[in-house]
Amino acid sequence: MLVGVPKEIKDNEFRVGMTPATVAELTHHGHAVIVERSAGLGSGLPDEEYRACGAEIVETAQDIFRRAEMIVKVKEPLAVERAMLRPGQTLFTYLHLAPDRAQTEDLIRTGAVCIAYETVTASTGGLPLLTPMSEVAGRLAPQVGAHALEKAAGGRGVLLGGVPGAPPAEVVIIGGGVAGTNAATIAIGMGAQVTILDRSLEVLRKLSMQFDGRVQTIFSTRAAVAEFVKKADLIIGAVLVPGASAPKLITRDMLPTMRPGAVIVDIAIDQGGCAETSKPTTHSHPTYVVDGIVHYCVANMPGAVARTSTFALNNATLPFTLALADKGWRKALKDDPHLRAGLNICEGKVTCEPVAVAHGLPFIAAETILQ
Ligand SMILES: NC(=O)c1ccc[n+]([C@@H]2O[C@H](COP(=O)([O-])OP(=O)(O)OC[C@H]3O[C@@H](n4cnc5c(N)ncnc54)[C@H](O)[C@@H]3O)[C@@H](O)[C@H]2O)c1
Repeated sequence: MLVGVPKEIKDNEFRVGMTPATVAELTHHGHAVIVERSAGLGSGLPDEEYRACGAEIVETAQDIFRRAEMIVKVKEPLAVERAMLRPGQTLFTYLHLAPDRAQTEDLIRTGAVCIAYETVTASTGGLPLLTPMSEVAGRLAPQVGAHALEKAAGGRGVLLGGVPGAPPAEVVIIGGGVAGTNAATIAIGMGAQVTILDRSLEVLRKLSMQFDGRVQTIFSTRAAVAEFVKKADLIIGAVLVPGASAPKLITRDMLPTMRPGAVIVDIAIDQGGCAETSKPTTHSHPTYVVDGIVHYCVANMPGAVARTSTFALNNATLPFTLALADKGWRKALKDDPHLRAGLNICEGKVTCEPVAVAHGLPFIAAETILQ
């Protein structure tokens, strides 16, 4: 198969769909890979590294979209990219179609086979192609939170780890899933005092075992959230209710009860945020202050560490990319129900039920199409 990797064109997106190592795996399997010039530069991956792994470097995105049988990307295709997709082509990337009617309609019109990273499932449960980004965002949260706690950033002036004789920061993590667990790992490593709230007892049991008493686990109720945010220097919001907007657990009236200069890092901002006062920010202006509380609400946190994120994403996508290239989309999707769950739009039909429901469009099960 001829596989193409265009340079990402979304604002401030520095990740790339394939690393040279992924290219090497594909060429080893007998496939040809074309990569747009400087596609990997934002992740510190120069063209020479791709060439050394067997890729052909091409000048423009048009060359990629015209020639490739499968396009592997990171972000959803923008309008100019959608206009270049065509029937017979497979697109493998993040799509997030439910809130995006224009993209959904355009992808239907292309006649292409569009497989979304975010709806691919795993036999162990969870969403394996979303997990690496939650890991990155979780691990980044104490780092950006520590910075926001500095005086110059408007914070309380508290060092996360404290020093002998002066106490460490109190870090409260709301939501003990993938992002929350990774945030806890780093916060503990930085010497903070960590409390995790979750509404799943199973999750709290697992965390308690995993961290062997180094975190306090608390069952999440409205009262518990109100009590713990009061004592926190740094709050990390990492809740997720699948398919729904994040619950507003930190209400506006809690802010005056909090420590002045405390920080909220709201990782859940991509689902609307778990504080009433959260609104999306960017890497160029990541924080703002409400009632003396510093809010960090960057919706694409992994973009700050594009190189790490590119490698983390490729580790997760590689087996699926290989299956699609080796078998072709039809057989790869027939053979693997988890990859099949990623099929969102197929040759003009919506094959992902939540996307069809969100836009009031007819839904056709992937199984029907693959018969
Ligand atoms: N901002 C970013 O750049 C970025 C990057 C990656 C992920 N995210 C977001 O981070 C959030 C967390 O993702 P995840 O992969 O860790 O999800 P996850 O499903 O692994 O974990 C979510 C946890 O929240 C808990 N929860 C749900 N309701 C709760 C409540 N009322 N109180 C306390 N806990 C509650 C669940 O029990 C679960 O353990 C998601 O919104 C995800 O989209 C954001």
